[in-house]
Amino acid sequence: MATKDSRSKNRILVFVLATTIVSLLLYLFYAFEPAMRGRLGSHMAGREDSVLRIPALILWGILIYLAVRALNATLFGAVFRFRRGYEAPTLVRNIFSIIAFTALFFFAFNRIYPEVNLGAIFTTSAIFGVIIGLALQDTLGNFFAGISLHADRPFQVGDVIAFGQQRHTGVVEGITWRAIKIRTFQNHVVLISNSNAAKEAIEVCPRENLNARLVFFGTLYNDSPAKTVHVVREAIHDAENVSRKITPIVRIRNLGDSSIEWEIKYWLDDYAKYNDTDALVRERVWYALRRNGLSFAYPTRTIHVERRVASAGTAKDGQGVIDRLLAVEIFAPLSAEETEKLAGASSSHIFAPGEMVIRAGDQGSSMFVVHNGRVQVQVTENGRPRNVAVLSEGDFFGEMALFTGEPRTANVVALEETEVLEIGHAAMKPLFEGNPDLAESISYIIAERRAGLAIREPEALAASSEPSGLLNSIKRFFGLR
Ligand code: CMP
Repeated sequence: MATKDSRSKNRILVFVLATTIVSLLLYLFYAFEPAMRGRLGSHMAGREDSVLRIPALILWGILIYLAVRALNATLFGAVFRFRRGYEAPTLVRNIFSIIAFTALFFFAFNRIYPEVNLGAIFTTSAIFGVIIGLALQDTLGNFFAGISLHADRPFQVGDVIAFGQQRHTGVVEGITWRAIKIRTFQNHVVLISNSNAAKEAIEVCPRENLNARLVFFGTLYNDSPAKTVHVVREAIHDAENVSRKITPIVRIRNLGDSSIEWEIKYWLDDYAKYNDTDALVRERVWYALRRNGLSFAYPTRTIHVERRVASAGTAKDGQGVIDRLLAVEIFAPLSAEETEKLAGASSSHIFAPGEMVIRAGDQGSSMFVVHNGRVQVQVTENGRPRNVAVLSEGDFFGEMALFTGEPRTANVVALEETEVLEIGHAAMKPLFEGNPDLAESISYIIAERRAGLAIREPEALAASSEPSGLLNSIKRFFGLR
């Protein structure tokens, strides 16, 4: 393949050759003109003069054309690049060539045919004007639209643009006096006429701009959204051409029929390579989901067959729930059978990061054990939230309202994706009857936590804030002796 250098050398060679030949022909023409005039004179009787001037005009026309090209190349190609660091736009070069050629050609025409008044022909001929006007309607439209594109500079060479109903998308390669030339991602060249471009909306993705893309995927409903967000964000943030300036966004687009539908919004360093980068992002997502036990969803129908196991907590992980409850401090005095019963009566709930499990002031008749994750206990003081405690796996909360019947004393918020086991009033009652010490140990914990809250309590509560007072109210509330 010829390189750019060798191509321009060839061009110069052709140019020099053409100029030499035309100059030689002109020289020969003027050298033999008197002789030719004499010869023709005998046949043409006075018309030989106008006939002889035609080849002269053609030769001068060619020479002027070559000179204008040479001038154009020197002026714009070399001087512009040298002085301003870039080449002049094609449109400017073309306008220059047209004006220079017309002016020089008229000049030559005037010298060869001094008796013809060209100006008068052009200015007086209305028909000529109409013909030119009609013939050049589109061309002139394109020409002026091209000028306004250059003045406006809505996009530049190298930017990606999308245009028209067919959404022609590609990288701008140039703007000429007639059209915008874009190279599509299939390596086709599309020419959009300037006048069309001026009329329709063009989507511009400037090269210097941080342009974003959206990539979609779907996961199964069983898969945790918080985990998916984390895993996908980690997987793509360092992928090639994904900009580090803005962290990619991973969010749920829709809860679809057979999947959680996700969208990834990421920003690119080089937008022109978005096809490759989209593909890389999808590939990364596939591997990340596979590694982390998450699954892509495809149109499926899931049939859940639930089997009730007499005394094993939740259907999903009965032994896990029993083990969790065995490790809870206040349930230590319970027998294995009682713990199993408690597990069977508990129900598991999952909360997203930031979700509120308990709201201060609500009525509540159940307590919770943190099975997985962490929660934060918060109270509002002078209109501001104050963090009282962070509870993690094996800790419990919500016991105050459950055992005393009072409203919830604090907000409890999930710090991360958190699974809790909820235990209701009905499940606790038989346990108190079989374990007289249970109410007492709970009353101590409640007293301690109330001290930690350190908020002004209603008179009635303050009286029962002592463990002994609390114990009495627990007994009263559960109808114990
Ligand atoms: P309850 O009042 O039912 O609802 C809010 C829960 O926050 C409360 O029960 C306790 O379980 C918990 N809580 C309140 N204060 C504290 C504390 N100081 N330390 C730990 N947990 C607390």
